[in-house]
Amino acid sequence: MPAPLPLAHLNGTVIPVAEAQVSAFDRGFLFADGAYEALPVYGGRAFRLPEHLTRLARSLRELRIADPHDPATWRAHIEALIAANGGGTMTAYVQVTRGAELARDHPFPASAAPTVFACCFEWSGPPEALVRDGAAVVTQPDVRWGRCDIKSIGLTANVLARQAAVESGASEAILVRDGHALEGSSSSLLIVETGTVVTPPDGPHILAGTTRNLLRELASQLELPWLTEPISVARLRAADEIWIASTTREVLAVTRLDGAPVGDGRPGAVWKRIHEAFREHVAAFRAGATSGASAALQFPVVLPLKIIGQAGPGLRERVLRLVAEHAHVEEESVRERSSGGARYLAITVSVRIDSRADLEALYAALRASDDVVWAL
Ligand code: PDD
Repeated sequence: MPAPLPLAHLNGTVIPVAEAQVSAFDRGFLFADGAYEALPVYGGRAFRLPEHLTRLARSLRELRIADPHDPATWRAHIEALIAANGGGTMTAYVQVTRGAELARDHPFPASAAPTVFACCFEWSGPPEALVRDGAAVVTQPDVRWGRCDIKSIGLTANVLARQAAVESGASEAILVRDGHALEGSSSSLLIVETGTVVTPPDGPHILAGTTRNLLRELASQLELPWLTEPISVARLRAADEIWIASTTREVLAVTRLDGAPVGDGRPGAVWKRIHEAFREHVAAFRAGATSGASAALQFPVVLPLKIIGQAGPGLRERVLRLVAEHAHVEEESVRERSSGGARYLAITVSVRIDSRADLEALYAALRASDDVVWAL
């Protein structure tokens, strides 16, 4: 069960997860009236972020919810939350609902502002046993609504299908509508037929998966033939290989379908190639992490710092002393403001930093400090 990391984002503010509370009249709660994204974070960097932001913007447009941010602001909020939670490897979750009004009425409220919530979850890749041995899946009737291309938070049908899979000892449900296998309850579906990768075409009953789209790029690099075609259940059962792909599963081989082995019951040869290419792609992305954001900075550099600490006696002095160990503090720039009902103190300060090593040491020290809740 993935646990949330300590800090969440709620409507522009980073706060401890336990304090992330929204109104019971939020339309997300009353009507599941909202959209979401889940994305992987490798080495502190959000993976395929532009693709996820584009899909979120599309979901919101289709739901006629005003997108609260432009892509640059979304990126800044998501990256700040990841950094606040210490970077590393995790998943990030972002949800936007139509907001709250003191009423329960189906038409759009006249004035509610969208509610934005984001948090991060512990994650270090799919379980090794599933990668090594492959996953078991079962087919389930697809009883979802007619707009599965929207990443809506209304997921009851997905939840029921997945629970049925778990109760029959499988880890995913493949959803079947009108005799065709479409996708998993929370993953994309691909099969291999005599060396050709086949995946169903996008449409109102399928979510356009970002992981699947990356697999398509990797398949083209590997010169693997790729076909977009409907997959009947008979075709699924006859496939040489079956794969499921998503943010949290990356790409897994399916080795059991409704209790029967797929191929020889072990992950197939084509899956091994694409999985290796996927892992290499992620490794290259991670390697870029260290030379990423701060690589463009020319030292010495003057930067604004924002540090949020638990309000208490001597906090300001202790934090500034810590900062001064790694950077030159511009004394006249120090400002402080209490937040979270005076539980927190936000200190902003301009600092001059002489080298990348100092910058990294400064952030490491701030993250390690018991006084500091969040630093950016
Ligand atoms: N689900 N199809 C469905 C129905 C999904 O819910 C998901 C992802 C995918 C794969 O999309 P992507 O490759 O962009 O993750 C396909 C996420 C992981 C979730 O609901 O948590």
